[in-house]
Amino acid sequence: MKLLIANWKMNLVDHQNWLSSFDSNFNKSHINNSLKIIICPNFLQLADMSQKNSLSNRFIFGAQNVSENPPGAYTGEISVEHLLEIGIDYCIVGHSERRALGETDFIVKDKVEKLLSKKITPVICIGESFEIQKNNETKTFLLSQLELLLKDKNLNLNKCVFAYEPLWAIGKGIPADLSTIKTSISYIKKVFDEYNLSLTILYGGSVNEKNSSEILSVDHISGFLVGNSSLDGKEFANIAKNF
Ligand code: 13P
Repeated sequence: MKLLIANWKMNLVDHQNWLSSFDSNFNKSHINNSLKIIICPNFLQLADMSQKNSLSNRFIFGAQNVSENPPGAYTGEISVEHLLEIGIDYCIVGHSERRALGETDFIVKDKVEKLLSKKITPVICIGESFEIQKNNETKTFLLSQLELLLKDKNLNLNKCVFAYEPLWAIGKGIPADLSTIKTSISYIKKVFDEYNLSLTILYGGSVNEKNSSEILSVDHISGFLVGNSSLDGKEFANIAKNF
């Protein structure tokens, strides 16, 4: 199964316009039963869009974030139980933009645990900074981001999706070079193999309609987590057609 995930982040997206652009570029003949298309809008749109039958029978909906805490006195937060109430199937965890706001590997693990307990699939983001890449420390860093998760025998990581998103390729318009993507993805795959895990690994970072076919050809990549190029329904449809 391949996954194509739109992370709209905190951008203003008119979802009616987005859908008409998507639909005018993606018709019935393009439907690919081995591709899941997942949209992660902001929480307000998520609550609205995920409840519309006309949308929920064509797209899967995901949250961009969730609290690691149980329902209660946490002003401004959204719990896993809230996501469950509106039937959300996926949730991004550990995105670098949230890690920059203080989301640690411990918090990531707590979120993963809570999501799995409600059968919501965590999409766990990992990826190194430019400095780390430059110093040839990518593998050690990626392993450090995975370690807490791998060591917890109670977590069923086979129910998770992982996204490799090198920070230096996010929002830049130019993705990581193919050789870096290949090296990092095959390293992540090797680590998972050592733990007898067979996981879905996505790539994220400046994926667009022009470069998506080439990146998709890299071994062990099962799809993309897309930011900027998912904001335009037409471009996102063109990426979907490349699967
Ligand atoms: P861009 O596609 O804008 O580089 O963003 C990638 C990303 O952060 C998806 O989560």
